[in-house]
Amino acid sequence: MAQQPPPAGAAGPAGHPDGPEPPPELPERVVKIYGEHDLSTVPAFAGGFINFGYWAGLADIDGRPLTEADRVRSEEDLYRLVLGTFERPEGRTALEVGCGRGLGCALALREFALGSVIGLDAHPDQITRAREANAALLGGPAGRAGRLDFVLGAAERIPLPDDCVDLLYSVEAAQHFRDLAGFAREAARVLRAGGRLAVTTFFARSREAARVLPELLPPYADGLDVPHVVDEVAATLVAAGLRDVRVRPIGDGVWEPYDRYLAQQPEPRDRWARRYLTAYETGLLDYYVLTAGAG
Ligand SMILES: C[S@@+](CC[C@H](N)C(=O)[O-])C[C@H]1O[C@@H](n2cnc3c(N)ncnc32)[C@H](O)[C@@H]1O
Repeated sequence: MAQQPPPAGAAGPAGHPDGPEPPPELPERVVKIYGEHDLSTVPAFAGGFINFGYWAGLADIDGRPLTEADRVRSEEDLYRLVLGTFERPEGRTALEVGCGRGLGCALALREFALGSVIGLDAHPDQITRAREANAALLGGPAGRAGRLDFVLGAAERIPLPDDCVDLLYSVEAAQHFRDLAGFAREAARVLRAGGRLAVTTFFARSREAARVLPELLPPYADGLDVPHVVDEVAATLVAAGLRDVRVRPIGDGVWEPYDRYLAQQPEPRDRWARRYLTAYETGLLDYYVLTAGAG
């Protein structure tokens, strides 16, 4: 994702000295960017979500300024796209990996009638924010019935038992995972037989692209993101025992409107962030939805 990098030395590690530590899987750069800096508050994002958004469902956005409401809708629609890959989600148990503020978990419960959702995030501050943002839901009937929970833990070492969820999804988090094979094994472990996985984020289109991307986009160079190659990600899911692995590029609904929204933001924030469109147009990266089945 695009971000305004904090001034050197300004962001410390996770903000609660007496609180839990981030798991060792979380690199220092990721700890900083989701720490006191609270990435969701930069103008490139809106509504508490932190993703580029899926804009194809927004009617009549060509040729007019994009509003903050459009931006929030695009971020919600990315969730709708991912959750919409699940057939008959009603009453199922789901795990979101890299849930951020947990607003996507709430959307999943509200709009997809899931039986329960666990939001997992490796950053303690994000888990705190998710609990705060969803306090009403957690304190209400859904929370009391155990339909929503937030858990601290890494994608590569999920602190849940085997065969405990029907659905596993992840929205714009896997670009941070150092050990994608570890995540794939953990996903296969926690999913019940017949379960489904859906992962969406941006990946490099080839090994050569992965080599070039850090020269263009600082988050790859500074250790925030990893330029995983999409075909290798798919192969990793297969190697973990997942089946029916499918890769769908969705960049035509992401990059151009997102870049237009960025262009409207006050200068001189995140000038380099507009290079994502260049990277897409020159065939270096794309945004994808990967789906797979378990068992
Ligand atoms: C770009 S944000 C996306 C948040 C949310 N999915 C959304 O779309 O608004 C990425 C999230 O992934 C979390 N994350 C990064 N690495 C992780 C890991 N290895 N395991 C679990 N969560 C991780 C971060 O703490 C952050 O909250």
